[in-house]
Amino acid sequence: MTPSPLSPPGLERVLFTEEQVAARIREVAAAISEKYRGRDLKLIGVLKGSVFFLTALARALDIPVKIDFLAISSFGGYSASPPGMVRIAKDLDEPIQDEDVLLVEDIVDTGFTTRYLLQTLAGRSPRSLAICTLLDRTSRRIVQVPVDFRCFEIPDRFVVGFGLDHKQLYRNLGYIGVMNPDKS
Ligand code: PRP
Repeated sequence: MTPSPLSPPGLERVLFTEEQVAARIREVAAAISEKYRGRDLKLIGVLKGSVFFLTALARALDIPVKIDFLAISSFGGYSASPPGMVRIAKDLDEPIQDEDVLLVEDIVDTGFTTRYLLQTLAGRSPRSLAICTLLDRTSRRIVQVPVDFRCFEIPDRFVVGFGLDHKQLYRNLGYIGVMNPDKS
């Protein structure tokens, strides 16, 4: 790998190169386009991590899409707080009633965020509701959630890049890397 001034000091290895990420997004986008062909699809991004994936996915789709965003406050995952506490910090701008909705995440980890969002959005009577995630870390799952589309299953390691951060940094890496947060 070519050293980059963007790379985190604690980077241990590149898990997926920029080329691998782009190729896999194209594959998943093709499956999504096929499933929703003939309908307008609304992509809902969960700030901030999903922004990079959502825009790459949207550009790779060949069906019309609308986009909207929400933000959540989650406690848990790799933090010391008790897991499972999720709330909406910024809601969608528009209703989703009678729309085909695809929730777009950068990572599904414990599943608490996805479960909360699927329940909340289902209560707004969309025509259909599914989830697409860039990364799926099933080894850390605490609550079971349906994952309709996913790009990569990943090991139980700390990852950064393509939207994923460490202390808000490294989201703009084009690749996905494993890092040791203690060495950053
Ligand atoms: C990440 C990710 C999901 C959530 C998944 O968000 O974007 O929303 O955690 O974790 P879970 O399956 O354990 O609930 P994060 O809180 O890191 O915010 P960010 O997207 O702003 O980085």
